[in-house]
Amino acid sequence: MSQVFVADHPLILHKLAILRDKNTASKEFRELIREITEFLCYEALRDLPLEDVEVETPMCKCTQKKLAGRKLAFVPILRAGLGMVDGALEMVPSARVGHIGLYRDPETHTPVEYYCKLPADIEQRDVIVVDPMLATGGSAIDAITQIKKRNPRSIKFMCIIAAPEGIDALAEAHPDVPIYTAAKDECLNEHCYILPGLGDAGDRIFGTK
Ligand code: PRP
Ligand code: URA
Repeated sequence: MSQVFVADHPLILHKLAILRDKNTASKEFRELIREITEFLCYEALRDLPLEDVEVETPMCKCTQKKLAGRKLAFVPILRAGLGMVDGALEMVPSARVGHIGLYRDPETHTPVEYYCKLPADIEQRDVIVVDPMLATGGSAIDAITQIKKRNPRSIKFMCIIAAPEGIDALAEAHPDVPIYTAAKDECLNEHCYILPGLGDAGDRIFGTK
């Protein structure tokens, strides 16, 4: 069974409430996605390795910790995953960014792939796949299956809202991939949208509806 982290920090819960509100316009929606992503990165990157460094303060010499140079790549699932990239890069400016283009067929709700461009050195990188919504799990499962073919060092999945159905499906398909989400919602409706959810993440980020 995958490791599943569900945020419970008051600042995240507050931002989620505003994010879900249908009256929140695209500009604020994008800012909130970015901010929540930054908070999630704290948790998802908790295991980054550190190394000792010598530092001289104005007072004395001491041994401190710095990041040990682990290489990361963020891979947004297009379109909506793009909304999480700025927040992720804010936390790890040196990370590379790959892209996977998938959309859900409106009739079958299964993912259709239309684009895949990953960093050339992905075999040396720890990958974090980002997408605001984990609904049936089909898109995340498909994206991770594609990325695994390129043998990255590790893969994590980070989202803003997850349905229980999506968590179960992703955990079954890729039990080695930890899931980090700001919220675990109630269920999917008959159109495979998350309830209470926030509606269509891509449309709300890009103002396309
Ligand atoms: C949304 C969302 C996920 C997917 C989740 O994308 O951003 O990628 O649905 O659903 P699933 O877990 O059932 O696969 P969508 O297909 O609407 O494409 P878009 O981002 O281009 O709007
Ligand atoms: N994709 C979305 O954007 N929202 C949902 O609720 C489910 C899939």
